[in-house]
Amino acid sequence: MCGIVGYIGKQKASAIILEGLKRLEYRGYDSAGVATLTGSRFDLAKKIGRVAGLIKSTSAQKMPGTTGIGHTRWATHGGVTDANAHPHISSDQKIALIHNGVIENYASIKKFLLTKGYTFQSETDTEVLGNLIAYHYQKEPATSEGSRFVESVRKTLRHVEGTYGIAVMCGDCPAEIVAARKGSPLILGVGDGEYMLASDVSAIISRTQNVVYLKDGEIVHITAKSFSISTLDSEDVSPVIDKVTWRIEDAELGTHAHFMEKEIFEQPAALENSMRGRFSEDGSTAQFGGLNISAVDFRQIDRFHFLACGSAWHACLVAEHLIERFARVPVEVDYASEFRYRNTPLSKNALFFTLSQSGETIDTLAAMREAKRKGYKVLAVNNVVGSSIAREADGGVYQHVGPEIGVASTKAFTSQLLLGAMLALYVGRMRDMSFNDGVDYVHALKGAPDLVRKTLELAPQLKGIAKRYAHYHDFLFLGRLSLFPVALEGALKLKEISYIHAEGYPAAEMKHGPIALISEQCPSVFLVPSGEMFNKVVSSMQEIKARKGKIIAIATEKCDLPAGLADEVILIPECHEAVLPIVATVPVQLLSYYIAVELNRDVDKPRNLAKSVTVE
Ligand code: M6R
Repeated sequence: MCGIVGYIGKQKASAIILEGLKRLEYRGYDSAGVATLTGSRFDLAKKIGRVAGLIKSTSAQKMPGTTGIGHTRWATHGGVTDANAHPHISSDQKIALIHNGVIENYASIKKFLLTKGYTFQSETDTEVLGNLIAYHYQKEPATSEGSRFVESVRKTLRHVEGTYGIAVMCGDCPAEIVAARKGSPLILGVGDGEYMLASDVSAIISRTQNVVYLKDGEIVHITAKSFSISTLDSEDVSPVIDKVTWRIEDAELGTHAHFMEKEIFEQPAALENSMRGRFSEDGSTAQFGGLNISAVDFRQIDRFHFLACGSAWHACLVAEHLIERFARVPVEVDYASEFRYRNTPLSKNALFFTLSQSGETIDTLAAMREAKRKGYKVLAVNNVVGSSIAREADGGVYQHVGPEIGVASTKAFTSQLLLGAMLALYVGRMRDMSFNDGVDYVHALKGAPDLVRKTLELAPQLKGIAKRYAHYHDFLFLGRLSLFPVALEGALKLKEISYIHAEGYPAAEMKHGPIALISEQCPSVFLVPSGEMFNKVVSSMQEIKARKGKIIAIATEKCDLPAGLADEVILIPECHEAVLPIVATVPVQLLSYYIAVELNRDVDKPRNLAKSVTVE
């Protein structure tokens, strides 16, 4: 949450920062701001609303500085106001600062600073940081201005409880930025005669692909010509410069109306990238390079624990179903936010997995740390390379689906479904799954991208249905077994981007309560597989129909639905059980997307949300 951009170089900083903020806007869009430094003068512009509004309002403003910082905000402490927008400038006008995270002890620091004569313009926790840095800067012995600046930041951060990614400018140091992180992501881009700072790589890949992923507790001091990294304890750190593989086109809309649409249609390629090189030569099982755990040790695991939030949690539920079904190993799935406080009794030979597209979700990170504290290995499935979770995990698997910019997860979700299915295969083949069954399973997974391609051809039909159903205020999404999590995902997609109330339920549970909602005004979306559950799901549909509820059925091609039972029928390809949740997800994504478009919603930036939730 919140996006940070910084620039030092020879170009006009404000233009580059505003461009970076546009790319980071999915991290928070309550307000945006930029500050640049010219001599010792800060030029500041900040306002509520989108980056586009800020760009408009700064177009006439002279911001010639070549050093600057910018921010897009997702409000935590303090309402959505211009005064609460970042950057914040210390009351002595010496320090300008942007911050992502939460300063938990801000109240006591503020009290102290008030006694020292510092004043406050905002209701934010952030403003105390700028004033505390200014306070330490005044007290710091006058060695060089630069080291005085770094030391004042270091001293400040030693007093701070909470999380932060910060970038700071000092009026006495015109071509310097000091930045630091703890619990909030921060990346240094090393360009050609310039440096950039950003919360994630999408803000900087148009200028450089060379990045340093800063670690928690590290402070970077950047000047026009060089940078150095040290810890809060003043130890020097040797930087490792990594090369980013994402391309600038990956983070651009192209011909699509929204990133969500682009990412839905990218799913066949995303699935291919997620599975590339991950099947054994004999084609009977999966293989993963980065698990860092031997097959012998893997064989000893008697229980898997999956931890995640949001859509990633739904993907865990599908993995649970497939692992228990094909590998016969018990699986527990927990919301990461609950696990971290639940103190669950755990078996001795358990193995943990976290799933997180961003790798920065604070609850997932904290749950992972809790599992590690208890002595368990934690493997991570992440999309963002170098993310906090990826770095702290004992091993893991990258999703390789490219940047996911739309706030609603789509291609990252189906890639997580695929990797969960591959894990079920991997573990299954270590146990009772035969070679031939393994070969069939691999064959099915390899066919998933084409089945998704075929399912995407249903887009015009779903657009038509969306037009007819966009005016409803409540929806139920119903499915069984591995399609129950898809029902949950469908409901989540619809509510987050269209603001329509929707609930996901196991189809048979519906009659234990939610059926009370059924009327002509509350349509139900049923996920209907052929095979053993077909008749059971049809019975649930009959119960809805008997109460005049409208039914949208997403059914596999072989389903012989009774005539007139469903008001709308969307036929998806028949497929292997491991692939079915992936294919069935596509129509619920498209339905939600087109309903949101029909309602004229801000699809990629739905209200109150942000792409990666880095506060508790
Ligand atoms: O980055 P993560 O996968 O950890 O994010 C988890 C959730 O915040 C995320 O899936 C969220 O629920 C999405 N908005 C769903 O579309």
